[in-house]
Amino acid sequence: MIDTLRVFEDPAEMIREAAAEVARLASRTAARRGHFSVALAGGNTPRPLYEALARDHLDAIPWDRVHVFWGDERFVPHDDPRSNYRMAREALLSRVPIPSDQIHPMPTEGVTPEEAARAYEATLRRHFEGSRPRFDLALLGLGSDGHTASLFPGSPALRERRRWVAVALAPDEPRQRLTLTFPVFNHAGHVHFIAGGAGKAEALRCALDPEAKPERCPAAGIRPARGKRVWWLDRAIARGLPGRPHAPVNPREPLREHHGEADQR
Ligand code: 6PG
Repeated sequence: MIDTLRVFEDPAEMIREAAAEVARLASRTAARRGHFSVALAGGNTPRPLYEALARDHLDAIPWDRVHVFWGDERFVPHDDPRSNYRMAREALLSRVPIPSDQIHPMPTEGVTPEEAARAYEATLRRHFEGSRPRFDLALLGLGSDGHTASLFPGSPALRERRRWVAVALAPDEPRQRLTLTFPVFNHAGHVHFIAGGAGKAEALRCALDPEAKPERCPAAGIRPARGKRVWWLDRAIARGLPGRPHAPVNPREPLREHHGEADQR
């Protein structure tokens, strides 16, 4: 597993750089393959990234060839302030010319969580023509307990190897969640985490530790088949990383770190 850490003093610079990278990936993929599919992260951290994509890359990204999915969702109505769909709609989707039938929210109304999970799998199956979903990009956040998406420590969803969408219980409200599972996330072409703050430093350390157990540190279980993860981080979360900035966390697992623009090898 190759981890590329982009560590920034200035959160605004981190957002600018991350948005530029997502825009480059979307444009390049859409040009090459005719479409670009992304699984969005929820929570608070990605909001400024989504706002930057709409504000600074409106013309650069071929929105008519972008398909948007969610990596997880809180099982609340889409107009609930806690909804990941609502956050992305406000920050991004209402501000860009993406065709509405290319926006694929997880269903959270008029169905049970289990029915919603099955329905979303059917949506994925249609879009990916029956094959296991391969997102061009999976965006992920990180919780201070090492969770990512709605894959929480100790959750049965962590052991799901067949289903693409699982029902999960979060430790805090809203407790009922829907989440993509490891088989889907680990099949993505690119996996980018975005996280910050000293409170998540331990979670980052465990996520980067090749010996970490996903049962205890779910983010460590995000190990894409192509073997690359990119981390967009502020200085506070990266402070506790062992050794010099670009010393490998584990000699067998080279860790490449970039500070801002410069790649300090
Ligand atoms: C969610 C997210 C979740 C989030 C982390 C970090 O639905 O909340 O999918 O995994 O990424 O909890 O959340 P913050 O970015 O708000 O710290």
